[in-house]
This record gives sequence, C-alpha cells and structure tokens, in this order.
Amino acid sequence: MRRSKHFLCALALVLGITGALGAAGRKATPGIERSKFGKMADGQTIDLYTLTNSSGMRVGITNYGGRVVSILAPDWQGRTADVVLGFDDLDGYLGDNPYFGALVGRYANRIAKAKFTLDGVEYKLAPNDGPNTLHGGLKGFDKVVWTEQEIAKDHSVLELSYLSKDGEEGYPGNLSVKVVYTLTDKNELWIDYTATTDKPTVLNLTNHSYFNLAGEGKGDILQHEMMVNADRFTPIDASLIPTGELRSVEGTPFDFCKPTAIGARINGGDEQLKLGRGYDHNFVLNRTGHGLTLAARVTEPGSGRVLEVLTTQPGIQLYTGNFLDGTVRGKGGKVYNYRFAFCLETQHFPDSPNQPGFPSAELKPGQTYHEITIYKFSTTR
Ligand code: GLA
Repeated sequence: MRRSKHFLCALALVLGITGALGAAGRKATPGIERSKFGKMADGQTIDLYTLTNSSGMRVGITNYGGRVVSILAPDWQGRTADVVLGFDDLDGYLGDNPYFGALVGRYANRIAKAKFTLDGVEYKLAPNDGPNTLHGGLKGFDKVVWTEQEIAKDHSVLELSYLSKDGEEGYPGNLSVKVVYTLTDKNELWIDYTATTDKPTVLNLTNHSYFNLAGEGKGDILQHEMMVNADRFTPIDASLIPTGELRSVEGTPFDFCKPTAIGARINGGDEQLKLGRGYDHNFVLNRTGHGLTLAARVTEPGSGRVLEVLTTQPGIQLYTGNFLDGTVRGKGGKVYNYRFAFCLETQHFPDSPNQPGFPSAELKPGQTYHEITIYKFSTTR
C-alpha cells in the first residue's frame, strides 16, 4: 500500500516533470535522422537530415544546396514554430526561389560588373543580377548537391562537402569546401566553414536563411526588434554595389546599436533605403581580432523568441525580404509576401575582390579558410 502510494507519487512527479518539459520544450534524445527529400531531374536521390537536441529543438537540412529547410524553435511558453521560410519538399527548392536557407558561394553577395582581377589575370563571371554577379553565379553552391559524411545517429552533427572545380562559374582554383552544421543543447546552430584551394582564388561563404521569429508565413518582420553590433555600414550605388565608403551609422536609419524595430525607419525616405528598397546592406562589425563576436540580436515581441548571431566574419548583410512579392508559395502553400522575413548573412564585404579598401577575400594555396557562424535561439521571458 505504502509502496504503491510512493509509486503513484513518483509517477505523478515524473508526469509533472514531463508535462513541464512538454511546455518548455520536450526532453528529447539528441541525434540525427535521415529521410528522403526528393529526386533530382537525373534521378539522384536527395536527403533531408533532421537534427534534434536534448530540449527538443529540431533543425532540418538537405544536401541539395546545403539548405536549412526548417528550424523549430520554442517561444516563451515552450510552443514551437518553424522560424525559417522554405518548402515541404525538394521540388520547391528546385523551382524558382531566392536562395531559401542555402549555403551560398563561391562568392556570396555581389561582384561588380561580373569580373575581378587577381595577380594580374582578369576573371570573367556570369552577370546574373543586372551587370553584376550575385551569390556565386548561374549555378552557385545553393544549387549543387553536397556530399554528406557518414552520420553518427546520436550526434546532432551534419558534415557536408563540395569540390568546386577550377573554372566553375569562372572562378580560379579547385576549391575543396567543408561545412559542418551542429545543433547544440543550448539551442545553437553552429555553421563551421573550411576551405582550401590549389590556385589563388576569392571566396565568401554564407548561409541565406530567411527568418521570421513569429513563424514562417506569419506576416511581415517590421515589428521585430534588432540590434546590430556595427558603428559603420557600406553604402551602395543603384546596382547595390558598395561605393567603397565605410559610413558611420550615427544619425541614420542604419543605427541599430540600441535595439530598434526593423520597420521603425524603413519607409522614411532615406536615400540608401530607397536604393535597397529597404535594408539590403552590409554592416561593418565592431570587432577586435578574428574571434567569435556577437553580430546581431533580434527579438520578436509577440512570441518572445530571440535570435542571436555570432560570427568570426567581418561583415553581416541585413536583407529585409524586399524582393519577396507573394509569388513564391512555401510550406503548406503559404504565401511569402513583401518583407515577410529578414536575412542576416555573415560575410566578407560585397565586391571585396574589386575594393582594395575592404578586408581581403583572397584564399591562397596552403592557407585554410575557416569561419564560424552561430544562430542561437532563446526567449525573452
Ligand atoms: C541577397 C541580396 C539581395 C537579394 C537576395 C536574394 O541578400 O543582397 O539583394 O538578391 O539575396 O533575393
């Protein structure tokens, strides 16, 4: 009798704890699972990897374009929502879409007039954005199939690699790239990039996830409050190429040193915001040395979800979904309208290969490119 009373108490306690964990994020077994995501036109099977951590946060990644397909993050009450735009299956990603969740390379963002000179040799690239090249060219790293390393089921780690051949999209050198995605028990998604080359080349790798911390498809992101750890930004010309100036954010709508709603000044008639149709600008991160630094923090007041971005990179592109226009239908057929997401793309500055005043994006044989970016999720309350 006594024993069964104790048993019931223990059971109630366990159920209570599980219930509490259910509300605050399920206690789960960390690991990775592979499932089929679809087939390429040539019949090649593409996989979806689901990373889970101990608090039940889940991240879906496909080896097509190394794309982050979903991020299920808890709100302040433990209710999860998918906070990135994307599609339910591979076909969506094979169709027209603006780099949803993709690994972008060989050179993320723009290179002016689709050319650059390295060691006296001019290299011509594909002009796929007016006169400029954007995000690696016609078939960038976002549209190639990455090779996955063997997975260890009880580790929330996915390692992807890709060999970009000498001359691919006009870039010199065989470039061997490795990207490791890790989901930690602290609700951090680590993206660790390494690369080596056999000829001098230029390189700029990023991830192009579109975030909406209220949940994908749930309206625009203008109420999200953003802090960007940058005293300067790189103003652009009419084709969104940096002018070369590093301009102070002080007294401009680019001052996010104190948390400010993304939409507070976006339609205020600022010349730079008119050129970008909103924010589509690189910020010069405040940093000393090459270590991991807090680059940005974004809070969504309704859900209390917080995203922090830490990086080793010198810059970050804030893009406020200004080209989203409702023509793309995403997960569950949801319409992704104007400014329904923001991107925080950690990077070297756009057009660095043509801008002697910017940190160099060159990689030489014998050197190893190594950058880390962390997307960390938490809540305000
Ligand atoms: C980047 C660019 C934008 C736009 C998007 C994709 O963030 O800076 O101008 O091209 O990618 O639509």
